[in-house]
Amino acid sequence: MENMQKEILYSRDQIDRRVMELAEEISRDYAGRELVLVGVLKGAFVFMADLIRRLKIPCIIDFARLASYGSGSVSSGQIVITKDIEMEIRDRDVLIVEDIVDTGLTLSYLVRAFKERGPRSLKVCAFLDKRLRRKVSFEADYVGFTLDDGFVIGYGLDFNEKARFFPDVYIVTNL
Ligand code: IMP
Ligand code: MG
Repeated sequence: MENMQKEILYSRDQIDRRVMELAEEISRDYAGRELVLVGVLKGAFVFMADLIRRLKIPCIIDFARLASYGSGSVSSGQIVITKDIEMEIRDRDVLIVEDIVDTGLTLSYLVRAFKERGPRSLKVCAFLDKRLRRKVSFEADYVGFTLDDGFVIGYGLDFNEKARFFPDVYIVTNL
């Protein structure tokens, strides 16, 4: 971590502008409805905080946390919900807010689990999409930025729990 080399990938201004665009799109799509935003801990908390303050529709929020067996930056595929939402989502419009779609395993698991609870609608908004890393096919409905590959940190995203507090997104160049 101490000798990690990194370069800015998305600046806080770029992020601000993109989050505003996403919020406008979401506000249009859900006009006249009340949205339940489910943030996926921990990575999505910064993005979610920015997003809800740009929405022009009423929303309520909850959080879930998932773990995948495996370690470090490699996920093995065995996903479990370690903290479930506390809210009933039957007949609600639900938008899952995630930091990053990588292999797609976490989100495809969560979407399957939530669909069984009978929401009125269920969509996914991901801040980042690493398109070339999928192990299962998965498409988020709203995506902030798309990259091919690489490890990114900051704006909520961590490397072994560090670097979440950086306001910009960096790509690690010496991993
Ligand atoms: P999945 O591989 O699509 O299941 O993504 C699992 C999770 O891995 C994401 O929600 C992130 O929390 C984490 N992750 C994947 N790539 C990165 C990265 O580049 N930086 C930080 N976290 C990442
Ligand atoms: Mg995550």
